[in-house]
Amino acid sequence: MSSTAHKESLSPSNQSQGKDSACCLCSLPLLSSSIGRKWIVAGTGILLVLFVIGHLLGNLTIFPGPDWINAYAEHLQSLGPFLWVIRLILLTIVGLHITCTILLWHENRIANPKKYAVENTLKTTIYARSMRLTGLVFIAFVIFHLAHLTWQGFNPETRTWVDAEGRHDVYRMLIAAFSNPFISAFYILSVGLLAMHLSHGIASLFQTLGLTSAKLRPLFERGGRIVAWIIFAGYASIPLAVLLGILRYPHASACSFCH
Ligand code: HEM
Repeated sequence: MSSTAHKESLSPSNQSQGKDSACCLCSLPLLSSSIGRKWIVAGTGILLVLFVIGHLLGNLTIFPGPDWINAYAEHLQSLGPFLWVIRLILLTIVGLHITCTILLWHENRIANPKKYAVENTLKTTIYARSMRLTGLVFIAFVIFHLAHLTWQGFNPETRTWVDAEGRHDVYRMLIAAFSNPFISAFYILSVGLLAMHLSHGIASLFQTLGLTSAKLRPLFERGGRIVAWIIFAGYASIPLAVLLGILRYPHASACSFCH
């Protein structure tokens, strides 16, 4: 479908919402209209929330014990080339989410900002006002996180840690990482920023998809906030449990910070 044809399939009110920018990305069908970009932000937002929930459920397998989380991590690694396909899809989703957000932000900046603020009541909370900041800082966290736990660049010796079954000992790696109070504090702060981002983002994507009304909006806002802070509690529970000694490495202190 050409970009013109796509624009024609949108309602006139939607078409009037955005100015088409002249960059090469904007010639792609969905990216060519403001409403298309909003749909991409919402669609990729849903997929990212699903990833965050899935990753959280995987990480929570640390609580039943090393066997669970090590088996889970090994299962992920056993996906082989398919894992790389998932990673590429995830990267594309993140790229689209960020690109469309920047394009929309640019449009809103050159359009009448006061009018936009009055029309969109979701934009008035602190969560809404800090969306760009929390998003940006969180991206920095994800880059750190990949270097820390996926590539294990800060403590390369953790790559050689294996459990009794010969699997990578992800349990021991996490206990060692979060025994460092600075690392734990950093993770808790970062997932706090993620929760702030999602507090507004979840309600906002329902609004973009047209699934809400003036009556339902407070319900979606409250629901979004509850989901966001449940996600926060789940992620923060892991470093907290390590710091409080609820989760420990069975044989000896695994803390690379203390030894
Ligand atoms: C306490 C919080 C977290 C813990 C304990 C944790 C744990 C882990 C671990 C152990 C891995 C490496 C898996 C492996 O290679 O075996 C990993 C990878 C990853 N984490 Fe997290 N994570 C946390 C928070 C997050 C958050 C909030 C995000 C962002 C949404 C995130 C995104 C990722 C990504 C994208 C990967 C790379 C997956 C891959 O390609 O293999 N993590 N995480």
